[in-house]
Amino acid sequence: MKKQSDNLLLEEIVHSWENPQQAILPLLHHCMEGKNYISDADVARISQLTGLSTSDIIGIGTFYQHFVFHPVGKNSVRVCLTNPCLFKGGNQLFKTISKTLGIGLEETTPDGLFTLYPAQCLGQCSAAPSFMINEDVYVDIPLEKIPGILEEYRKGKVCQPVYPGGKPLVNKPIVFEGLVSRETIYLGEYRKKGGYQALENLLKEGNPEKALVEIERSGLAGRGGGAFPMFKKLQALRKNPLPHYLICNADEGEPGTFKDRYIMERDPHSLIEGMVITANLIGATKGYIYVRAEYPHSFRILEKALQEAQMAGFLGEGILGSEFSFQLFLYRGAGAYICGEETSLINSLEGKRGLPRNKPPHISDVGLWGKPTEMQNVETLANVPSILLKGGEWYAGLGNKKSPGTKLFCLSGHIEKPGLYEVHLGMSLRELIMETGGGIPNGRSLKALLPAGSASKMLLPRHLDLSLDYPSIAEVGAFLGSASVIVMDDSVCMVDLSFWIAAFSHHESCGQCTPCRDGTEDVYEILVKIVSGEGKPGYLDLIKSIGGYMREASICGLGTTAPNIPLSSIEYFEEEWKEHILHHNCPLGVCPMGKREAFVFPPRRSRGVFGDFPLLNISAP
Ligand code: FES
Repeated sequence: MKKQSDNLLLEEIVHSWENPQQAILPLLHHCMEGKNYISDADVARISQLTGLSTSDIIGIGTFYQHFVFHPVGKNSVRVCLTNPCLFKGGNQLFKTISKTLGIGLEETTPDGLFTLYPAQCLGQCSAAPSFMINEDVYVDIPLEKIPGILEEYRKGKVCQPVYPGGKPLVNKPIVFEGLVSRETIYLGEYRKKGGYQALENLLKEGNPEKALVEIERSGLAGRGGGAFPMFKKLQALRKNPLPHYLICNADEGEPGTFKDRYIMERDPHSLIEGMVITANLIGATKGYIYVRAEYPHSFRILEKALQEAQMAGFLGEGILGSEFSFQLFLYRGAGAYICGEETSLINSLEGKRGLPRNKPPHISDVGLWGKPTEMQNVETLANVPSILLKGGEWYAGLGNKKSPGTKLFCLSGHIEKPGLYEVHLGMSLRELIMETGGGIPNGRSLKALLPAGSASKMLLPRHLDLSLDYPSIAEVGAFLGSASVIVMDDSVCMVDLSFWIAAFSHHESCGQCTPCRDGTEDVYEILVKIVSGEGKPGYLDLIKSIGGYMREASICGLGTTAPNIPLSSIEYFEEEWKEHILHHNCPLGVCPMGKREAFVFPPRRSRGVFGDFPLLNISAP
């Protein structure tokens, strides 16, 4: 009986998407529920329902970290092994959990209760270090409490949808007033604060051109990292024939970034309203919010908010009595950093492996299902209602001439007051770090900072007087990206930092193009040797040459930006590197240098059909 009802449920899932292939990820998620893995019988059923071969289904599923095709533990424990968690004791946290459970990475306890996984940023970076058990998030837990927490799950603790409380926005809000709330602002509260007024005005006036003028005047640029003017993207799309799609990129995977999570969890209707308005401006009748797998709470909150919006007539057929209709769907990712890249995200949304596509064509011409598509980030879209209500000039006046408006900055790492800050673009980096963020704690000094998570070249104390706007940061060869600023004090070893960044890039490379697949692998393996005390003369030149090749020839941003931190740290801290390589010495005593047990070596990621690769026998030139 149970099997029959589950079959009906699976059929229902297939029919709720645009075509059977799009249902693959939701079907795989469904099969994971309860047992944490996908059985051969599940694969056979999915194959029957979708018409895809079993090898297609396994080929797609194995691309994503959260899908497992063999029996594993009843509880999944995911420990964040990216910076800034590593700066705040992530390695010790991992070792405590590993020791308590008696297993290593990707192993299962003999009683079948736990499997231990590495995680790549859980979006909790300001309260690092963090880990998740099933869907429960834990941040900054004293190590002595870890055995007790695990024991609760051993006894059968039921997952509770919890997330850290407290105010998400630390400073005074400018545009994002909803972000000071300690709780989710649902529809009633949102309406009381003037929510959906901008949409009502737009539909009543029936003049999208006027709204477009306001967006042009605002100078709003993409807040996900690209910083491309939203108005230009909208214009390019409007020239193309219908149908048009609208996608919100909520795959916030850049280490150190957590701003979009807070918007979705505290002020979800600001995003939904921004999407309905944007859909109206481009004539889209269908849209998607693609949420990363590591954000189950954001997903649930958005689900509830979408239902509210639908019931109240802000979504669906004939919105607010107008002729405009817009259906908005939630789609859950499954653990792949690369899906933050727009064409990878589209492939994933189509139920495929999340591989990036070559550009051109751009997605405004050929996007989802080959149709013109507008994709914007959560923060960008959530700005739109305020811009329409208060005017483009008001918004532009909040920033400087080079970069209008405000920006949410995520501060983490070695900073006195980590957290989320809304900042006038054009503020100096010094003011952000030393005043707003409270400076460097424990009497230490600033060594360097990463302005865009793992992606941009690093900045130094001498860059503190730079203005926080896109062109000024670009002048020194760096970029703001999603504005996840990771601060590092003088206790940070640049080789250790580069090792972890290389491990992350290697783990997350999709493996499609040779420069990124082999380049991330080679840089990682060279760094394994250096931090293990096996460095050889010539390794620096080797990293520089591989990095240059990756920057030039990779298909997408992952490959072109992956070498930025190792290369800039060599540029700025060459002596530190030489000490490791030539004298097999880590001056700060951070790298294991022969004591491998002192360090967690993250596993290399296999991307399904590409298989795993043997460790290269690197010989220096
Ligand atoms: Fe660990 Fe973001 S939660 S780096």
